[in-house]
Amino acid sequence: MYKGIYYTHLFSVITFLLIYVIKTVLLLANKEEGLVKFTKGIKVPEMIVSTLFLVTGVYMLFQIPEIKTLMIIKILVVFASIPVAVIGFKKRNKVLAVISLIMIIMAYGLAEMSKKQKSAVIPTETMDHSPAESTSNGHDIFINNCARCHGEDGKLGLMGSRDLSGSAMDLNTRVEIIKKGKGAMAGFEGILSDEQIRAVAEYSESLKK
Ligand code: HEC
Repeated sequence: MYKGIYYTHLFSVITFLLIYVIKTVLLLANKEEGLVKFTKGIKVPEMIVSTLFLVTGVYMLFQIPEIKTLMIIKILVVFASIPVAVIGFKKRNKVLAVISLIMIIMAYGLAEMSKKQKSAVIPTETMDHSPAESTSNGHDIFINNCARCHGEDGKLGLMGSRDLSGSAMDLNTRVEIIKKGKGAMAGFEGILSDEQIRAVAEYSESLKK
């Protein structure tokens, strides 16, 4: 579910950007006729794409465990670019149109940056926590690796994760899912050792009510 929303978001953002770039190029090249034609022809698809873009964006925002500063800047930039773009294209003001395009691209770049930061942080984080990394205590492993989605008691259910306290899954299936991942949950093979995976799987079973 989350992945589907994520790809819909990515697709709508890229389509939105593409439409934007084409419009800006037409404006810059003084192709007034082309711009009017393109704007008219693309009106409905553009509306669908921007609605998808906003709805999926808001949905994802509510699924994210913690909202980062970068994310807030990104959202502010996206919203600020809208009036700039509207005025820029209405008044055929090239400077404003280019500024709004730069803002949107910047926001997209920020999103990519925050993603890189995040993926760069996760492995080093688990590596730096050498006491936690070397521990075979299922509870500690769970708190360090799983609680951000499942919550300390397994009930949090972020990003579409299951309430672990209500899961009837057997141990071997758990081990498999923790190793390989499932849906929005990435696998832990290579991050946790086999013993740690078994320990945390056993711990997750103990959360069952
Ligand atoms: C990025 C968020 C995230 C993290 C971190 C995460 N999970 Fe998950 N987990 C999920 C999601 C989402 C699902 C549901 C997957 C699906 O069914 O599509 C899930 C499903 C599971 C399930 C299967 C439950 C069921 O009944 O279907 C188990 C067991 C589980 N996770 C254990 C863990 C353990 C143990 C860890 C830590 C080693 C962990 N998870 C870390 C998001 C996460």
